[in-house]
Amino acid sequence: MVKLSVNLNKIALVRNSRGEGIPDLKHFAELVLNSEAVGITLHPRPDARHVTSSDVLQISKLISTHHANKELNLEGNPFTRPNKDYLGFLNIVEKALPHQVTLVPDQNHQLTSYYGWDLKENFTKLQKVVERLKKKNIRVSLFLDHKVKNLSLAKKLGADRIEIHTGYFAKNFSTKNQEKALLGYEKIAEKAKSLNLGLNAGHDLNLANLALFLKQVRGVQEVSIGHALVAESLARGFSRVLGDYLKLIKEVESGGNGGSGLGMS
Ligand code: PXP
Repeated sequence: MVKLSVNLNKIALVRNSRGEGIPDLKHFAELVLNSEAVGITLHPRPDARHVTSSDVLQISKLISTHHANKELNLEGNPFTRPNKDYLGFLNIVEKALPHQVTLVPDQNHQLTSYYGWDLKENFTKLQKVVERLKKKNIRVSLFLDHKVKNLSLAKKLGADRIEIHTGYFAKNFSTKNQEKALLGYEKIAEKAKSLNLGLNAGHDLNLANLALFLKQVRGVQEVSIGHALVAESLARGFSRVLGDYLKLIKEVESGGNGGSGLGMS
């Protein structure tokens, strides 16, 4: 079965916009860990606008102490430097000891991960990082574009898996280019299989486009999904909560205590 790793960065982003601990990241982590999802993905960035270094350590502890059957996947750029808000990606990894690390070439302050590694250009640098992670028994995945050149270098680097960037597929989903876009993904999936590299996929996947992707691109072991899952949760829950507020106001105006707004009627 294809595994789902839930990226909780957006929950932390909303929390950080007020700085008061709401929504509670741990609560949502527990919801994921008590579901059939394989685990949680976190992507600490140098500007700490999403999950912070200490969030990562807390969630790693939560998993190792109470959810040993679940996985933590940490994404990030191993070449980022520490600062007062950020321990540095490899330092965080070595403290949290996740099950999987997905190495991503994102720049500081980049809104999201726009592209994958150029394997040839970064080979020597990445080789040292992969070696360091493998010594800690961490599964290593490399974030790559579906049109990546020299895929065999991923194997040479010692990576266990690749994660293909599904943004291009999502952009072309439901357009006349959809089939052509998918072809590129099918090719890389076959190539990864022939190289004995595991296959993950992620970015811009959602409830509308995921089924087609999984049907056409065979061999995907894990998808990592964050932004859409949070946006879809808002879309599906917003009207209900709005109704709760209106009900509460009406109740108070007619002399009640508004308790039914909190589900206490
Ligand atoms: N994979 C990587 C490497 C990412 O950086 C992200 C976004 O943090 C995702 C997957 C998940 O993408 P989305 O938030 O669009 O589901």
